Amino acid sequence: MEFSVKSGSPEKQRSACIVVGVFEPRRLSGVAEQLDAVSEGYLSNLLRRGDLEGKAGQVLLLHHVPNILSERVLLVGCGKERELDERQYKQIIEKTIHTLNETGSMEAVCFLSELHVKGRDTYWKVRQAVEAAQAGLYTFNHLKTRKEEPRRPLRKLVFNVPTRRELPVGEKAIQHGLAVSKGMNVCRDVANMPPNICTPRYLAEQAEQMAEHYDKLSFSAVDEAQMAELGMNAYLAVGRGSEHESVLTLLHYQGAAADVAPIVLVGKGLTFDAGGISIKPSANMDEMKYDMGGAASVLGAMQTLAELNLPINVIGAIAGCENMPDGKAYRPGDVLTTMSGQTVEVLNTDAEGRLVLCDTLTYVERFNPDTVVDIATLTGACIIALGHHASGLMSSHNPLAHELLSAAEQSGDRAWRLPLWDEYQEALESPFADMANLGGRDAGTITAACFLSRFTKKYHWAHLDIAGTAWRSGAKKGATGRPVPLLTQFLLNRAGSGQQD
Ligand code: BES
Ligand code: MN
Ligand code: ZN
Repeated sequence: MEFSVKSGSPEKQRSACIVVGVFEPRRLSGVAEQLDAVSEGYLSNLLRRGDLEGKAGQVLLLHHVPNILSERVLLVGCGKERELDERQYKQIIEKTIHTLNETGSMEAVCFLSELHVKGRDTYWKVRQAVEAAQAGLYTFNHLKTRKEEPRRPLRKLVFNVPTRRELPVGEKAIQHGLAVSKGMNVCRDVANMPPNICTPRYLAEQAEQMAEHYDKLSFSAVDEAQMAELGMNAYLAVGRGSEHESVLTLLHYQGAAADVAPIVLVGKGLTFDAGGISIKPSANMDEMKYDMGGAASVLGAMQTLAELNLPINVIGAIAGCENMPDGKAYRPGDVLTTMSGQTVEVLNTDAEGRLVLCDTLTYVERFNPDTVVDIATLTGACIIALGHHASGLMSSHNPLAHELLSAAEQSGDRAWRLPLWDEYQEALESPFADMANLGGRDAGTITAACFLSRFTKKYHWAHLDIAGTAWRSGAKKGATGRPVPLLTQFLLNRAGSGQQD
């Protein structure tokens, strides 16, 4: 879809549809009042008759409003004016896009970006609207033989801003919103792909294809033979029960001088997690194809980054692997020597993510990273703790934790910090090795992060547990594209172009 910004008055627009807000109870927004005046009270008459209360999400589509040049006017309920917050704004935008798609307007001029949203500026409102519009158009029908397309989808959306001075900010917001959406779509596509197609090799191929598209991206991969040479025995152990070879994929983005220390994004890429010998119950096991959601979000973030051409160095490390039960599979009781030299007693083969990640975290030391952020669907316990609204954030470095939390807040892709106090480390003690791969039932999300922290001493590190946010279950099952907005906001901020400069 095409987006643009302009600054004009509503009655002068000649478009298939103009979109304006109505507040509760039956109160026209400023822009709607302008239309009302030109149409000699047409809109206020409708409200008086009770056609629209103005509750958030209500819509009323009007045709041929007197003296109005546009073919249609879409009135959108915005709730009580003083209560209009981020959540309601997003809801209203989603409803608007849905209605426009369903009702045959192929282009529209939207004045909702002028509404006053508590604590948010034009940049935010336009960018959120672009992201919502793009997300609303997403479908995953690659594997359906009959693809359903909307009859006359919305093609062009123009956002109106109050003054001409805000046009550049609006344009920047569109550019950022489009790049973030593109990354989210990549993330969703790869994550939704079934595990018989999306294997560790497939993840590598996606990265390789992406690198072919952008000059600043380059691709490399570490195969099982190389892992063996490097002593990545924890990573290798997890993949041993699978017919598919493990592959650690690396995507290098060079946007700054070669000697600028990179940010490394490490993604858990379990293309299927059956649990291994500690096999999972069969209910909803299909959803364990999403256990590569971290890897998918790294691919998505790299896509956005390359699209935005940011002046920083970033390396994406995608830890592709499959965890299956088999005669060759690793077992509970095994003691593994990790690439770092530390030994691990396996108590449960379903706690595999941390084993794949620990060797990857050691591997990336060679890049002398400034910062490493890993992203993983690591623990079911994180869903118990935070549900599906926030990703779990853990870090031993306070400034980095704050950076990520503020990127989450800015982008609307929420995260919530959990503590990583040393007291929790005790849960990992093992009588047979340096540590166990499991810390018991209590604080499972934190003890998993404690495990990873033992492999991250050489750089600033943070961990995002996205078990609750990477996908939705139920009737609307599908990847969400999270936490691409959070990660890319973090990168935008690091590049010093976080907003409207
Ligand atoms: N991939 C799972 C975590 C998970 C489960 C994410 C369900 C989202 C939904 C991970 O590999 C796993 O199995 N974790 C175990 C750890 C336990 C054995 C310590 C878990 O959470 O039960
Ligand atoms: Mn598991
Ligand atoms: Zn897993």
